[in-house]
Amino acid sequence: MDSRPIGVFDSGIGGISVLREIVELMPNENYIYYGDSKHAPYGEKKREEIQALSENCVSFLLDKNVKAIVIACNTATSACADLLRHKYSDMPIIGIEPALKPAVLWKAHDRVAVMATPMTLKQEKFRQLLHTYEEQSDIFCIPCPGLADFVESGMLDGPEITEFLDGLLHPYLEKGIDAIVLGCTHYPFVEKVIRRIAGDSVRIFNGSHGTALELKRRLTEADLLTENQTKGTVEIYNSSNDTNIIHLCHTLLHHPE
Ligand code: DGL
Repeated sequence: MDSRPIGVFDSGIGGISVLREIVELMPNENYIYYGDSKHAPYGEKKREEIQALSENCVSFLLDKNVKAIVIACNTATSACADLLRHKYSDMPIIGIEPALKPAVLWKAHDRVAVMATPMTLKQEKFRQLLHTYEEQSDIFCIPCPGLADFVESGMLDGPEITEFLDGLLHPYLEKGIDAIVLGCTHYPFVEKVIRRIAGDSVRIFNGSHGTALELKRRLTEADLLTENQTKGTVEIYNSSNDTNIIHLCHTLLHHPE
């Protein structure tokens, strides 16, 4: 039993979409969230750079005496989860990956589009995931450079983001898509726009809930769950000095719609 906080980090505000699932599942835990918006987006950087930045995020959280760390970023998970687990072998480190499995298994021989950063899609971790499921479905990978920037700037709806997403998705929707995987933690914040463009018949998946469940499983296994019987605290920090970003994080955490 342990009431130390759980650390959660992302390249910016996207990881809030994971944190809100985790808080819903384990409301009595305390949380420290760190967004590295100063260096976002990670998804178009070199792997070595993402590794160095992610190590900084982990150091920040370790200084806050966290008991476990969630990499609430598909890009950082695919670029360096193994390295971080190796370096901090005493710390439970939970990552996130595109929810390809539930999207493929949902319907026989469906056509699945995976939206993610260019970095996530080209990493070995994702290539292996793809390889596991490519026989069972038609899978289309959609690299989305620039999309996380819209979210970082707080533009979550409106003509500009609609036009951007329409341009990105249209060629794939024309082929007839059954499911879309949101393979970047920033994207659930524009799910409403994606839904409007894709229509109601397309199912949308993301990996946040699976990550929350895995975190709970790991904490239970290591006997690290809190005994707190009241609602815990959430502290949000960001590498950028912009107070609007912290404000936006709180808003997205409490009022997702
Ligand atoms: N939120 C990050 C992810 O899940 C990516 C955003 C970025 O490019 O920084 O992949």
